[in-house]
Amino acid sequence: MTSSDAPKKPSAAGMRRNLASYGDPGFSLFLRKAFIKAAGFSDDALDRPIIGITNTFSDFNPCHGNVPRLIEAVKRGVMLAGGLPMEFPTISIHESFSNPTSMFLRNLMAIDTEEMIRAQPMDSVVLIGGCDKTVPAQLMGAVSADIPAIQLITGPMLVGHHKGEILGACTDCRRLWGQHRAGTIDEAEIEVLSGRLAPTQGTCMVMGTASTMGCLVEAMGIALPGTGTIPATHADRIRAAEASGRQAVALAKNGPKPSELLTRAAFRNAMVVLQAIGGSTNGLVHLAAIARRAGLGIDLEEFDRIGREVPVLIDLKPSGDHYMEHFHWAGGMPRLLKELGAHLERDAMTVSGQTIGAIADAAEMVPNQTIIRSADAPLKQTGGMAVLRGNLAPGGAVIKHSAASPALLTHTGRAVVFDSVEDMVNRMDDPALDVTAQDVLVLRNAGPKGAPGMPEAGYLPIPKKLAQAGVKDMVRISDARMSGTAFGTIVLHITPESAVGGPLGLVRDGDMISLDVPARRIELLVDAAELERRKSEFTPPAHLTEPARGYRGLYLGSVLQADEGCDFDFC
Ligand code: FES
Repeated sequence: MTSSDAPKKPSAAGMRRNLASYGDPGFSLFLRKAFIKAAGFSDDALDRPIIGITNTFSDFNPCHGNVPRLIEAVKRGVMLAGGLPMEFPTISIHESFSNPTSMFLRNLMAIDTEEMIRAQPMDSVVLIGGCDKTVPAQLMGAVSADIPAIQLITGPMLVGHHKGEILGACTDCRRLWGQHRAGTIDEAEIEVLSGRLAPTQGTCMVMGTASTMGCLVEAMGIALPGTGTIPATHADRIRAAEASGRQAVALAKNGPKPSELLTRAAFRNAMVVLQAIGGSTNGLVHLAAIARRAGLGIDLEEFDRIGREVPVLIDLKPSGDHYMEHFHWAGGMPRLLKELGAHLERDAMTVSGQTIGAIADAAEMVPNQTIIRSADAPLKQTGGMAVLRGNLAPGGAVIKHSAASPALLTHTGRAVVFDSVEDMVNRMDDPALDVTAQDVLVLRNAGPKGAPGMPEAGYLPIPKKLAQAGVKDMVRISDARMSGTAFGTIVLHITPESAVGGPLGLVRDGDMISLDVPARRIELLVDAAELERRKSEFTPPAHLTEPARGYRGLYLGSVLQADEGCDFDFC
């Protein structure tokens, strides 16, 4: 047999990728085609580059309510560019419909996304995500699967209105609920408000985690420029989907793959943007997880240094006053990138084929807008977040100081300790609780393993009797997370968490705690010998010593701490 007579080795593209194993690749391909033809596909269609599209629509996820229309437009774009679109389902996670927490499920979605990309034949993939955990999960999965990928964001919802006031989910959900707790909004009005805070499909429209991730995917170059901020309900959102589908075909042919795109420079740009937008603290955890998948990791000290140099330039709630649709019409991410100038790694590549520098140079210069500030007139003089260390947080902690009370950033107070989320719920509003506005509220056993699932419980409510007396903010510290939409002088992600023996578990009621954000310190003012004695009495929470089955068992046994992104150790 001459070489020209030899059976052609199937090239690993299109339908020939990732064949099911029957011990005969030719038969595997034959069988696959036989089955897919049952759906009416022609040979011409099946010979095209195959573009996977993640379908994350769910009736339980209104943040993804526009996904069917986006898929339709992505398919149009793919076909206009000569590819074959193939939509497939993955898990969808909504913040309010995920028990115990969406963070508990993020890694499950990452595994699902990775394995479905890996198992099925596709030459590139369009990741459609939006609600907080979905985009990080998709990127974690896509980085590990490492075929060309493009992120399409579902987009922020439009603002709500009530009594002449503009409302945004969920910064105003918390503010108004606080007023309800304090007795200034009655039962009937809070019911009315529940219908006005989230008036359209799409993601929360303040600078919460979803909006933060929408900005970061542009900063990392894995979404088309300008697409991270378009409102969910606008025609431009549909056009962005079509354009993403088109570009996915180009990526299928020429790359780059996530491993080529998500470089140290891309993560540096993401850290710069995270500081400049006053982004969600959750964004830092997710970045750490994505970077770890890329074999890199996030250096918390570098992130803090960036925060000292890069001011907050975006005037959005909760750090400022406006909403995502205003940011978008002010020029969106390209304009922010332009204002960030020399802070960026300009040569970092993007899925569009342009560098970040070229995208910044081409930004639309909207006249008279005040949402995207220049470095000469920033919203805050420094970045949104600071990384704290000290004997309470040897592995680090984070504070969003752009949304904190300036007067509390240097504060020493008496600890009022809650041993768990349940303990906090039971006792916080007890009129007999020994607490003053100068105290430091401490919540523990609310970290990745402790709760489990690291709930967004770090925004401890102000004790009712203090709220009714007009107290709006107190220093609050925990190993929990906080919604990106929340505000206050709140120290989060204390690492290591108390449930695995971290020093937060050693705090007793009445201990003095010192917070010094300018010096980046958080200290428990108890002598070392006493702390050693308390350490010898430590016992982990019961759920960490009892056998656990299924995904919960996998999670409890494998989840890492916040500084490593709360990914699983084996991922
Ligand atoms: Fe989905 Fe806020 S609940 S983005």
